[in-house]
Amino acid sequence: MQQNFELTGVRTDPDFFRFEERTAFDPELVMDVLQGRRLGVVFRDVIPEDARKESVARFWNSAGLLRRDGEPSYHIGSYHWNKSTDEYLEDSAKTADAVRDVLDVPGSPWHAFRSAMAAELARHGAEIRVAEHEGEQACAALIRAWDKEGSFALDPHEDEAQCKDPRQAGFEIQRAADHEICAVNMCVEQGVGGRLVVWNVRPDDDSRRALGIEHTGFSYPPDSLDGFDALHLDVRSGDVYVFNGRHVHAVDACEGNRTNVSFLMGFVDERTVVSWT
Ligand SMILES: [Fe+2]
Repeated sequence: MQQNFELTGVRTDPDFFRFEERTAFDPELVMDVLQGRRLGVVFRDVIPEDARKESVARFWNSAGLLRRDGEPSYHIGSYHWNKSTDEYLEDSAKTADAVRDVLDVPGSPWHAFRSAMAAELARHGAEIRVAEHEGEQACAALIRAWDKEGSFALDPHEDEAQCKDPRQAGFEIQRAADHEICAVNMCVEQGVGGRLVVWNVRPDDDSRRALGIEHTGFSYPPDSLDGFDALHLDVRSGDVYVFNGRHVHAVDACEGNRTNVSFLMGFVDERTVVSWT
């Protein structure tokens, strides 16, 4: 990192930079996030308890459970982050059955979310589908539990830079960077702490280059974020939250398991929302 590094980028106005909160799912609010009218929305306690329990049981008992060391977590599924398109799609194919097993629980939050969004998007003449490339499908969701020790369970980062990796040139998810990039998280198990933290900055490429994270967006030194407003969102088991991943965000310290079903999504053209992981 350069000495005297100063993070620069876009700050959004206070009307935008907030979470809407509801106790029932409302796809119109998700549309607002997709179309850049609001930062985020949290739907409290919308995942049926049986579906949470079954998701958690299938996750921890899965033969497909993987350990990620660089960014400590347990997960099922594949990350496109810092990979070539081919590597990502190969990993996605290998992990697809294990992912589906967790997504296909009775009362599945993943299916409920996708079908509600499909109906809402249809009203706008659009659709939602898993991203694909030359007939191969991206991963439908990552199910993961963060357990890094320290002040952040997941370090400050953003989800836009990773959509500019030259190794993924031509992969349709790169077109999402021309729109909004939305992070979708469904919390099925939550220990103590583990709040979502979002800072009011969308870093620019100069800042990314200075940090050497132009194509990863991971991670931003906590000091560099001091001058920006931050939101802290308490997350509980059963919550579904969606937010604009172009803003720097993190998960703060957490004790116990914080297990989420998650994916990224965005418009790639006026009629198409794709999702990836
Ligand atoms: Fe993220």
